[in-house]
Amino acid sequence: MNILVTGGAGYIGSHTSKLLKKVGHTPIVFDNLSNGWAEWVKYGPFAFGDIRNEEALFRTLSGFQADAVIHFAAKAYVEESTRLPEEYFDNNVSGTIALLKAMRRAGTSCLVFSSSCATYGNARTPTIREDHPQEPTNPYGLSKLMCEQVIRTAAPVLGIRFAALRYFNVIGNDPDGEIYERHEPETHVLPNLMRAAQTGGSFSLFGTDHPTPDGTAVRDYVYVMDLAEAHIKALDIIASRDRLISNVGLGKGVSVRELLRTVEDALKVKLNVLENPIRPGDPPELVADNEFLKTWFSHEFKTAEDVVRSLAARAVGS
Ligand SMILES: NC(=O)c1ccc[n+]([C@@H]2O[C@H](COP(=O)([O-])OP(=O)(O)OC[C@H]3O[C@@H](n4cnc5c(N)ncnc54)[C@H](O)[C@@H]3O)[C@@H](O)[C@H]2O)c1
Repeated sequence: MNILVTGGAGYIGSHTSKLLKKVGHTPIVFDNLSNGWAEWVKYGPFAFGDIRNEEALFRTLSGFQADAVIHFAAKAYVEESTRLPEEYFDNNVSGTIALLKAMRRAGTSCLVFSSSCATYGNARTPTIREDHPQEPTNPYGLSKLMCEQVIRTAAPVLGIRFAALRYFNVIGNDPDGEIYERHEPETHVLPNLMRAAQTGGSFSLFGTDHPTPDGTAVRDYVYVMDLAEAHIKALDIIASRDRLISNVGLGKGVSVRELLRTVEDALKVKLNVLENPIRPGDPPELVADNEFLKTWFSHEFKTAEDVVRSLAARAVGS
């Protein structure tokens, strides 16, 4: 299939593009490089453009006769969204609306959307099921929820079958080392832990007084290549189903302090930790209920510890 990958120059988009190519699809990356890397667009053609530009999307979809879209493009920094909410609604929501319009015009009828556990807000239950209330605690999460709502409402009318995958926290790198987790600035926990461990620099730990067992935030970490496989499986599923709304997580919480200890242990270092206040809009605990996921995607997920150990083995070998 020819698959338009919006945001394909970014972290998850580039890893998914690599896997799409490997299994025989053609990923056509559509990205404005606002937070992506041109050198990571190497698994298929590149269309430079902004998702708010319906005309450019339409030309790309029809020019490449795209069969489906995987829609990763978004601004995705929680803290930044609390300072620039209007930018987040414009980029993420207006961009998704423009994409739906372009898909309708081009006759593209399959969409996989990157949703997020951030759409749930504060968890009311130890693990979060898909029918948990969606009450985001920050503009980023709200923008993702608004996109989901627009898609859920408009897609059936537009003749678009869709999957909305609510990822939990994505970690890890391509095992071949061609591409890796890279954001500018890097706010994600594992690259920052690895950098501190390898350079001897400090690690900023945000939030030590959450209502969690060790006071640090608890997250459900998903390996990026497992997530990429879930996208390919979701495309399969929506070939014969109108909609699929699912968490993608392991159903197991790991605290930041536990992740930190795993890095220290794997790399045999003692990290220099700077304790900072909780970041605004950061919920204490986000862990998926993955019972529904298991009904459509039977897969052996790597744990956060597996991911850290393989990153450490590569770091030591390099
Ligand atoms: N990283 C995570 O843990 C996580 C968790 C849940 C959901 N998500 C979602 O997954 C998606 C990908 O996240 P990521 O970590 O790879 O982010 P990323 O910032 O690495 O990638 C996003 C890409 O989208 C592009 N982009 C942004 N706005 C654009 C626009 N207007 N037009 C064209 N391209 C644009 C950027 O240049 C970048 O290449 C996002 O939608 C994010 O909300 C990520």
